[in-house]
Amino acid sequence: MKREKTHFVCQECGYSSTKWFGKCPSCGTWNSMVEERERTELKYINHVESCKPLPLWNVEESERLLTGFSQFNNALGGGLVKGQVVLIAGEPGIGKSTLLLQMAEKYSKSYGKVFYVSGEESGSQIAMRAKRLNIVGDELYIFPETNLEIVLDKLEDVKPSLLIVDSIQTIYSTELESAPGSVSQVRECAYKLAQACKKKDIPLFIVGQITKDGSIAGPKVLEHLVDTVLYFEGERFSFYRVLKVVKNRFGANGEVAVFKMTDKGLEEVPEPSALFLQERIGSPGSVVFPHAEGSKPVLLEVQALTIDAIYTTPQRRSQGFDINRLALILAVLEKEAKIFTRDKDVFVNVVGGMQIVEPAGDLAVALAVYSSVKDKPLGDVLVFGELGLGGEVRAVHFPELRLKEGKRFGFNKAVLPKSCVFEVDGMEIYGVSHIKEAIELLL
Ligand code: TYD
Ligand code: MG
Repeated sequence: MKREKTHFVCQECGYSSTKWFGKCPSCGTWNSMVEERERTELKYINHVESCKPLPLWNVEESERLLTGFSQFNNALGGGLVKGQVVLIAGEPGIGKSTLLLQMAEKYSKSYGKVFYVSGEESGSQIAMRAKRLNIVGDELYIFPETNLEIVLDKLEDVKPSLLIVDSIQTIYSTELESAPGSVSQVRECAYKLAQACKKKDIPLFIVGQITKDGSIAGPKVLEHLVDTVLYFEGERFSFYRVLKVVKNRFGANGEVAVFKMTDKGLEEVPEPSALFLQERIGSPGSVVFPHAEGSKPVLLEVQALTIDAIYTTPQRRSQGFDINRLALILAVLEKEAKIFTRDKDVFVNVVGGMQIVEPAGDLAVALAVYSSVKDKPLGDVLVFGELGLGGEVRAVHFPELRLKEGKRFGFNKAVLPKSCVFEVDGMEIYGVSHIKEAIELLL
């Protein structure tokens, strides 16, 4: 086969050259040159014949294909769509392969052949896992292979209803010289796989390994190339796993599905709020926050613990909440509400291994810290709102959904941004516009 031309492109400034440089001659960045294939064909070439303009009312909505996990379907906006390319990213050992193997079995029972390409594990390793998970799929085909061209060939032969590639970092194309896992290999292979699957109208799952700092070549460089990006998260030593929709061309972002890792694989948790609150004792420093990045809110317990500092530089530690955001909240608490933590170690924990990324969690964290400093429990109160640098409490998304979820679990008091006040039967709602107001209210 004729080797196609490659060139090297700086990932920072886009400078392109036929030679590799350690330092980009254009912008001076080190180690930014990556080999890429020269593409003469246009990206959308195979759509050209079939594409013609249609009036909107004449365009059919795609049918949804069910994964066999109801929460998973909901998170995806109802299920998969033909030709949908999904990237599922997560740290090694979090349970991506387990989830996909379980899904593959269920899917194959409804839609026929599923093709599971595994570059990470051998056939016998997968068979052992399948046995443990009680998976018996006549229509489930395991293919331990890492060569892209062979995978694409087999795809033609097998004609599956779903393709899973685990993981993209292990797959390589012989047309590129760089090593498997490099940016150009990962991008090229994902692109080729996605094109093949789109052409055949079959959904594709691509597994992307990610390290703690998220820096490994892979998921990040693929995000624009796929239709849907899912993050599979959780603390390794906790049972709970959260599948979060980060991008979705066929549904909303921020949707979550919660799973529990058992000795028989992953089980869906239909009522995550109940689960995350089940061991709550409501001691000082504990606040309940209705988390809602997507349409499905989940009640989370935010805990803060403050003690007199052991070292001269007080410590700030946080699990499930951004540490820089915590520093900002502590500063606002000091300046605007005279709650001093400068001589205290501050620990924050979101129970159950969930991550709070949305700013709506600010007020809950601030009040949890306040409650711990004062050693005063806040009781069963729901708290949400974003905190500005001046101590102002700002509006957030989905106030109604959050309140209703709280109501469902017996909360009848809530503190929230004034501009988000929403009447809910049987609930005392307190709208606040400043952190000081919130604190005075709870005093
Ligand atoms: P795995 O799916 O291999 O993770 P990934 O593909 O994301 O790297 O999951 C591995 C972990 O899951 C492993 O540490 C053991 C645990 N596990 C269970 O607890 N129960 C099970 O039934 C299975 C199959 C795995
Ligand atoms: Mg795996």
